[in-house]
Amino acid sequence: MSLDNNPITARAHTNIALVKYWGKKDEKLIIPNNSSISLTLDEFYTETTVNFDDNLHQDIMYLDNKKVNSIKSITNFMDIVRNLSNINKFAKIISYNHVPTSAGLASSASGFAALAAATSKAAGLNLNDKELSKLARRGSGSATRSIYGGFAEWKKGTNDKNSYAVSIQNPVKMDINMIAIILDNQPKKISSRKGMKISVNTSPYYNAWEKQTTKDLETVKDAIYNNDFTALGKTAELNSMRMHSLTLSSDPSYLYLNKDSLLVINHIKALRDKGIECYYTMDAGPNVKIICQSKNIKKIKSELLQSFDEEKIKISKPGEGIKYL
Ligand code: DP6
Repeated sequence: MSLDNNPITARAHTNIALVKYWGKKDEKLIIPNNSSISLTLDEFYTETTVNFDDNLHQDIMYLDNKKVNSIKSITNFMDIVRNLSNINKFAKIISYNHVPTSAGLASSASGFAALAAATSKAAGLNLNDKELSKLARRGSGSATRSIYGGFAEWKKGTNDKNSYAVSIQNPVKMDINMIAIILDNQPKKISSRKGMKISVNTSPYYNAWEKQTTKDLETVKDAIYNNDFTALGKTAELNSMRMHSLTLSSDPSYLYLNKDSLLVINHIKALRDKGIECYYTMDAGPNVKIICQSKNIKKIKSELLQSFDEEKIKISKPGEGIKYL
């Protein structure tokens, strides 16, 4: 079969971790120290088209209509697919990100999940979700979970074969929404890759994190099965702050939160004082995501509008898994 001029397009949505992945035991294969749980979001996604072409002498990539010059991580990823499929052609990759790049909204999750799906299919491989999840993992850990819609769990495993995500629940039964406040859409100064490495190597609390996260994972999983919004929200918020305290306790110490993140957190506390249930979570960037039920969206939004412009506030519902377009 000729692979030329057979462009394949895939869409993957980003996900927000409710129980975070923070730290690797194998940096090359991206095997995590702890399992994690996420919710895939409908609002943020990446669409990627891959076309293998005999005439190319290297991979080329365009992101949002701009040529990407340093594509080492992409080429390394493409090499994995070339090895798996025994092909030696290069590819043209055209990608559109409907996610603020590198601002802690995990564009790498939707990015590598979409790339894994499009590239593997364009290379003639017919991977099932588990295989796709393993492949996406080689690009970025959080991408492992973006293969699935709804709630997913990345089971940490111990090696390349047994570290992959599974679906926990899709469609999602719980009434759950995620309000993202986009405080900064600039690339972050300390990538999650770098940040987690510093935490693993220097935070005296890292072992405690691993232990606690194992418990948080069970609590969140039970909350999903029992449709217990309160237990899910509370534990996700605690788990997120436990992750951020690893950054503070590292050497050198670093911080993803900025003053606007704290402002959002204070708004959330004020809402809770008024009896409006909502919780916050943050990844490796300043943006805060609020976990809430539909009935409270309006009230939460009007509280946030006291400090932030409407276009900075994005409301997501649970999203779908990988889709070929
Ligand atoms: C805080 O998946 O971006 O979002 O595997 O090094 O590419 P690499 O890291 P990445 O880290 C995500 C960290 C997190 C938590 C999470 O999504 O679980």
